[in-house]
Amino acid sequence: MKNTKDFLQMKQNGEAIVMVTAYDYPSGRLAEQAGVDMILVGDSLGMVVLGYDSTIPVTVEDMIHHTKAVLRGAKDTFIVTDMPFMSYHVSKEDTMQNARRIMQEAGAHALKVEGADEVLETIRLLTHAGVPVVAHLGLTPQSVGVLGGYKVQGKDAESARKLLADAKACEEAGAVALVLECVPKQLGAEISAMLQIPTIGIGAGSKTDGQVLVYHDIITYGVGRVPKFVKSYAAVQDEIVRGIIQYRDEVKARQFPDDAHSFTMKEEELTALYG
Ligand code: KIV
Ligand code: NA
Repeated sequence: MKNTKDFLQMKQNGEAIVMVTAYDYPSGRLAEQAGVDMILVGDSLGMVVLGYDSTIPVTVEDMIHHTKAVLRGAKDTFIVTDMPFMSYHVSKEDTMQNARRIMQEAGAHALKVEGADEVLETIRLLTHAGVPVVAHLGLTPQSVGVLGGYKVQGKDAESARKLLADAKACEEAGAVALVLECVPKQLGAEISAMLQIPTIGIGAGSKTDGQVLVYHDIITYGVGRVPKFVKSYAAVQDEIVRGIIQYRDEVKARQFPDDAHSFTMKEEELTALYG
C-alpha cells in the first residue's frame, strides 16, 4: 500500500497521483482493482449515495459505516475519510473524539478537513496526535451556505491571495496533502508549485500533483447534471436501467426464470411424494 511518503515522492518525481472516491464494498473493490493511488471516502456520499442535496446532513456515523465497507473492498489502498459537517468545530475534545473514532473504529488511514483559519489549529492538533490530515481549500462544500452556492473560488486577485496564504498555512500546520476544488487552473498550478506537499485537484486544472473525481461522476452512475470539471468515462446507469428493464419484461412475459435458472426434483422423488 502506498503511504504519505510515497505521495510526496510521486510529487517530486512528477508522477500524477490518482484519487477516486468510494463509498461501499463494491466501489472500494473496483477502485482498487483499477489501480488508483488512493481512495477518498468523501462526504459527497450524502449526495451520490444517500440522496441529500448537500453534504451538510452527513454524520460521523455515516462516515464510519461507509469507511468500514470501503476498507473491506480495498484492503491494499490508502484510504482518506472526510470529517463531516461540524464534526471538527464544536470543541477540541469533540473534534479529537470524532477523529479517533473514524481512525480506530472505521480504520481510515488519513482524515480530510475543509478550510483554513480556525481549522489550522485542528490540522495541528490532529497531526500531533499522529493523524495524517488532508486539507481541502477552494470550493468547500460544507460551507455552501456561506459561499452562496457551488461556484469557482479564487477568481479575483484578493481571494486568490487569500487562497495562496491558506494553502501555505495548511502545509505549515502539518497537512500531508491538499485537495483544491474548483479554482482557476492558474491558481491550481501556482499553489502546486509553491507547496512541498502534493495537491490533489478537482476542477483545478491539469497542473495539480494529482486529481480526484467522484466515483459516480466518472462512470455516470445515478447522477443527473454534473459540474463542468467532471468527465464521464462510462455510462453505467444506462446499462443498469437496460438490464432492469429486460428483467422486468421477461418476468411479465413469464420468460424468466427458464429451466436454466430453476431447480429440478428427480422423477422418482416426485412419484414417492405424490404416488
Ligand atoms: O466528498 C468528496 O467527494 C470530496 C471530493 C470532491 C474532494 O471532498
Ligand atoms: Na468532501
